[in-house]
Amino acid sequence: MGGTAYNEYLKTDVLHALQVQVTEDEGERSFLVVCQVQELYFALITHDIDAAAGHLRANRAFDATAALRRAASHFAGLNASWTSLSWMLPADFQAIKQGMTSVHGRSSSLQSWKYRQLLFRLGLKDADLAEEVRGMPEQYAELQEAYQAPSVYEDALAMARRRGHDLPEKKAAPDGNAEDGLDPAVVTFWTTIFLSGKPEHADLFNLAHSFIAVAEGLAEYRNLHYLTTSRTLGARPAYFGTSGTAWLLPTLQQMPFPELWATRTGEE
Ligand code: HEM
Repeated sequence: MGGTAYNEYLKTDVLHALQVQVTEDEGERSFLVVCQVQELYFALITHDIDAAAGHLRANRAFDATAALRRAASHFAGLNASWTSLSWMLPADFQAIKQGMTSVHGRSSSLQSWKYRQLLFRLGLKDADLAEEVRGMPEQYAELQEAYQAPSVYEDALAMARRRGHDLPEKKAAPDGNAEDGLDPAVVTFWTTIFLSGKPEHADLFNLAHSFIAVAEGLAEYRNLHYLTTSRTLGARPAYFGTSGTAWLLPTLQQMPFPELWATRTGEE
């Protein structure tokens, strides 16, 4: 078969045939490409989160930390991609949205199963939102699996338990609100790790910092998404017929790994 080694590896012929526009709008290409690039990043981050979870289940804290650090650095790349939409005005977005509706039917990014899978793997689980992808049986099954499985954070706590740390079974946070799931014994555990200064806790200390870096990456993603939406949609109705920004606002407060954040408040 002809071709180049470059193309054989990167599949550029396939990659560059994937941008099928729904309007003649010359700005649509940047929206489409940014969405596709972000989808690739969702999958890449999930890949490294899964790698971290595998290492944690095998008691390899050092390797898990390396995988989480990769995931955190991918968030920096993902978040930079929002800049490509900084030119967009509400009229540009409306034209694309109308094009999507007339060609493909009613569309929302809530139908992004890769993003939902990523959130589930981080422990931010909401069963109702999985329903958005029920029409894709294979992907829906994968989402159900991610919903049922321990999150990467629960895997870290299980590893600490196997090492002899006195920790209760961490229950999965209730749907949609990690804060409600705050476990005081887990807060005490992480506080000890952060404050002990003991060399034997060094790998858990580094692991905890990597979890924080991942959570910050996600928080920044959500903030930039919110800002982009404020600029290009404002408070106009979105998918649910209610204000798009109002739907997104509460998501800014849903932080993964809640006990790690609670250690920052400390005790009086
Ligand atoms: C002009 C740009 C954008 C606007 C105005 C916008 C608007 C919105 C709105 C209003 C929602 C809330 C749900 C809904 O009503 O549909 C949402 C959710 C979402 N959007 Fe966007 N969006 C934009 C760009 C993007 C891009 C480029 C991506 C990348 C694939 C994306 C991914 C998502 C995801 C994953 C959600 C679910 C959020 C969550 O569950 O926390 N959006 N978007």
